[in-house]
Amino acid sequence: MNYDIRTRWKIGIGTTLLLVSLMHFLTPVHLGIYHNVYDRLFYIPIIFSAFLFGFRGGAATAVISGIILLLHLLFQWRVHVEIDLTGRYLEIAMYLVVGVITGVLSDMEKSQRRKAERAYEQLVNSFEKAKESERLAAIGMVAAGVAHEIRNPLGGIKGAFELVAEDIPPDSPKTRFVEIVEKEIKRMEVIVGDFLKFARPPEPQFSYVDINGILDSVLDLSRKKMSVNRITLRKEMADNMPRVYADPNQLKQVFLNIILNGIDAMQDGGTLEVVSEILENGKCVKIRIIDSGVGIEPGKEKFLVEPFYTTKETGTGLGLPIVKKIVEKHGGTFVISNRQDRRGTVVRVQIPVGAAAVEGGGADG
Ligand SMILES: Nc1ncnc2c1ncn2[C@@H]1O[C@H](COP(=O)(O)OP(=O)(O)OP(=O)(O)O)[C@@H](O)[C@H]1O
Ligand SMILES: [Mg+2]
Repeated sequence: MNYDIRTRWKIGIGTTLLLVSLMHFLTPVHLGIYHNVYDRLFYIPIIFSAFLFGFRGGAATAVISGIILLLHLLFQWRVHVEIDLTGRYLEIAMYLVVGVITGVLSDMEKSQRRKAERAYEQLVNSFEKAKESERLAAIGMVAAGVAHEIRNPLGGIKGAFELVAEDIPPDSPKTRFVEIVEKEIKRMEVIVGDFLKFARPPEPQFSYVDINGILDSVLDLSRKKMSVNRITLRKEMADNMPRVYADPNQLKQVFLNIILNGIDAMQDGGTLEVVSEILENGKCVKIRIIDSGVGIEPGKEKFLVEPFYTTKETGTGLGLPIVKKIVEKHGGTFVISNRQDRRGTVVRVQIPVGAAAVEGGGADG
């Protein structure tokens, strides 16, 4: 049979107790010197048990050993020999003392060891985190450097191409290529812009903003894409939303990124829900953007906010990392997860109404 290590130790300790008991009961009482040794042999299972199973193990084994010795003394010694057994009764008390003290010490040692293990685990975790943020900082620096270097020649290409394109008449077959170049230049500008925004996010310019108004303006911008994907919009905006101390442009970027992701996830149509609500007696606002799209692949949730993680052919994977950075700069929280009730994704953004926890973003008012 296959026993685990603890069970094997228990069997070993039980067997030792049994053997010592048999030795006591089977050795004639006139061989007192042997019994003296057997009395001490009980310490072996008691100490092992206390060491392995702590206070409870030590105390239990000491009690069992004590009961065995007591029975042996009462039924075999007291009836046969006329000698003082006080020393041997005291031995029973010693079993308990040794079992309990060793058990308590062992418990203390175990709890110390667990604490040390936990501390070590935390140390490893924070080391991993530090390594990760170092890696991100390095990526950010490279990205910013490359983006910066690309931006200037890209500006030159764009300017020069606009001049060249002016000479191409609208009915020329080359107009199609002009459109392609313009589209691709625009795409490169977006990518470069995203890189820079991610690597060197501008400090928020705070003012008191109307979140529902920002959501409406972002939804207006997305209307065309929504109708192409046959998406129904459902809005549920809280009345009397307090004005939020925030950077309106950065919040637009947050909601635009989230809404565009939702639209991308619903290529075959669906419903986009935008819900705003007031929390904590008006101290906080919460915005939920819910889609009925493909949802997040299980196990991938934690990668979504990693820079450059994308499942889209033309994505840069910087949308959500930028969202997270901006929301955190506003002292808020951002969570993206699969919907519980049905297919799709829900994104929750919570922002304090005041300028809470905004590092370096202090304006007055
Ligand atoms: N609403 C959503 N439903 C399903 N998957 C999503 C949703 N939002 C984000 N994702 C997943 O998270 C990935 C990362 O999103 P993120 O916005 O950071 O980058 P992206 O949309 O791929 O590219 P871009 O930089 O153009 O925004 C997406 O590629 C997609 O796989
Ligand atoms: Mg995106």
